[in-house]
Amino acid sequence: MSNVKLLLVEGYQEMSKVAAQLFAQEVKRKPDLVLGLATGGTPVGMYEELIRMHRTEGLSFSQATSFNLDEYVGLEAQHPQSYRTYMQEHLFGQIDMAAERTNIPRGDAQDLEQECSRYEQAIAEAGGIDIQVLGIGTNGHIGFNEPGSSASSKTRVVQLTPSTIEANARFFESVEEVPTQAVSMGIATILGAKKIVLLASGEAKAQAVRDMLEGEMTPDVPASLLQMHDDVTVIVDAPAASLLSAVTIGRAKTE
Ligand code: PGA
Repeated sequence: MSNVKLLLVEGYQEMSKVAAQLFAQEVKRKPDLVLGLATGGTPVGMYEELIRMHRTEGLSFSQATSFNLDEYVGLEAQHPQSYRTYMQEHLFGQIDMAAERTNIPRGDAQDLEQECSRYEQAIAEAGGIDIQVLGIGTNGHIGFNEPGSSASSKTRVVQLTPSTIEANARFFESVEEVPTQAVSMGIATILGAKKIVLLASGEAKAQAVRDMLEGEMTPDVPASLLQMHDDVTVIVDAPAASLLSAVTIGRAKTE
């Protein structure tokens, strides 16, 4: 498992709290930091906890910049299922981040290739990502880097796999409405973050978590490529840790 730090927690709420504490710690240490943000079901609880800290403990994001991992191709920013809308509802609309410093790829850009290089350049110009949060797909994807994504991949247009489309259909009226492509940071973009925090909750993620931590580093399991980074913290709840070996569990820290 290389030097990936593994934190075992009981359930989703504990996972969300521990993750929010790691983020809050970084925001306090460096108020003008660059956050790498994610969407999906997993980070919702962490965002709720950060909002609570903002409201009750004065945690401020006023000097922070953010870059999201991905956006669906073809959805304009105002679309109810766009990741811009998600971020507005689950985080940006409830904290004090400056709107002009929140970055999400434009899935409705005329020239998507140009949008991808613009996004990479904007991350570089901001000084790189200080702390990146990730979820993990049941197929081991991170961002929308599906199996087969190379370690050197940068922000690009990706094709979503049938399993990802099916997993994300719960956010849409029907599976046919789920876009089949996305703009996603690449594996190399993600590995460029100074600190990475990956969250996994629920039994459906157990196999992917095992493959990520105990398997070989392979593009077949994109999350396993995180093993080459030297500052990754993986926070896993009990159901998501259920397939890990006794050796891995023995090396983990319990929160
Ligand atoms: P989820 O998605 O948080 O909705 O489970 C995670 C992912 O696909 O990376």
